[in-house]
Amino acid sequence: MIRIGNISLPDFPLLLAPMEDVSDPPFRILCKDNGADLMYTEFISSEGLIRNAINCRRKLDIFEEERPVGIQIFGGDEESMALASGIVDVTNPDLLDINFGCPVKKVACKGAGAGVLKDVDLMVRLTAACVKATKLPVTVKTRLGWDEQTKNIEEVAERLQDVGIQALSIHGRTRSQMYKGEADWSLIAKVKNNPRIHIPIFGNGDIDSPQKALEYKNRYGVDGVMIGRAAIGYPWIFREIKHYIQTGELLPPPTVEERVAVCRKHLHEAIKWQNQRVGINEMRGRYASYLKGLPNIKEYRNRLNRLTEVAEVEAVLDEILTTYAGFELQRTPIELIDYHENCPL
Ligand SMILES: Cc1cc2nc3c(=O)[nH]c(=O)nc-3n(C[C@H](O)[C@H](O)[C@H](O)COP(=O)(O)O)c2cc1C
Repeated sequence: MIRIGNISLPDFPLLLAPMEDVSDPPFRILCKDNGADLMYTEFISSEGLIRNAINCRRKLDIFEEERPVGIQIFGGDEESMALASGIVDVTNPDLLDINFGCPVKKVACKGAGAGVLKDVDLMVRLTAACVKATKLPVTVKTRLGWDEQTKNIEEVAERLQDVGIQALSIHGRTRSQMYKGEADWSLIAKVKNNPRIHIPIFGNGDIDSPQKALEYKNRYGVDGVMIGRAAIGYPWIFREIKHYIQTGELLPPPTVEERVAVCRKHLHEAIKWQNQRVGINEMRGRYASYLKGLPNIKEYRNRLNRLTEVAEVEAVLDEILTTYAGFELQRTPIELIDYHENCPL
């Protein structure tokens, strides 16, 4: 069993990565249903929280049934990070996570996110300020370093552990790499195998199949894996990995019924969280991935994307169920999107 503060997680937990505009409460519920053991909100600006910016406050929302959940904040100023930690405390998540990994210019070049990787002393001070300001367990998510010449994750891990973080998630790329190339897990393994390190170390980067998750578990010895892009539009990745690790067998891909059920649940959770109009709009980009692999689905998808009433959406989903009843989907590899500077992260 893995412990983070008073949170108990099963052996080799599967974490849903924080993802801007993706890991919101409706999506997190779907991942939870499919076996995610620990999930995070998208990153939230400490400055925005302090200014009481309404869009930042909404990101703090947590549904009871998705616990344990961590709220992730970022910022480059000690006082703001401490104040933001106090605000997070009041909303009662299970843990507070600090983002020292975001590579985009608007964040990293203002000395927050991965920008802090260039100044380990500042990173330590920011972390210590958060640990002091909250009763929650504090965890950190970061990258290997700023660039190829400064992969300082081993030093970072020791120093952050010394100021009280209770788990560390490491994305096996540098800031300069953004999302290019392959994530390098060998340095993550080095951190894990450092005898000084006693907190859980979670590996992150490029997990896109049950086979890879098991291979990396065995090869790198991490305490668990964090999954990001592979879960977008495919929350079933968690149950598939769990099953494969337990049995060595691949589950069949989700059935038509399961896919339609996920469309419905996402829609209803999104409406519950926001409202009907926003919920229906939010779903427009999502049907494509949930229904991927069904032949000639485009026409249904286009219809779904135009509708404005829940009852109409439900009727089209019923139609899909009837049309594709008994259809056996083939397993197709998950494609990881290559994010770049102009993308949100
Ligand atoms: C759309 C998107 C949004 C992201 N937003 C965040 C974020 O808010 N906080 C964070 O720490 N990382 C964020 N990330 C990075 C992911 O958490 C993760 O580290 C990265 O995608 C690598 O993991 P993967 O290969 O499993 O996707 C984001 C990634 C994507 C694709």
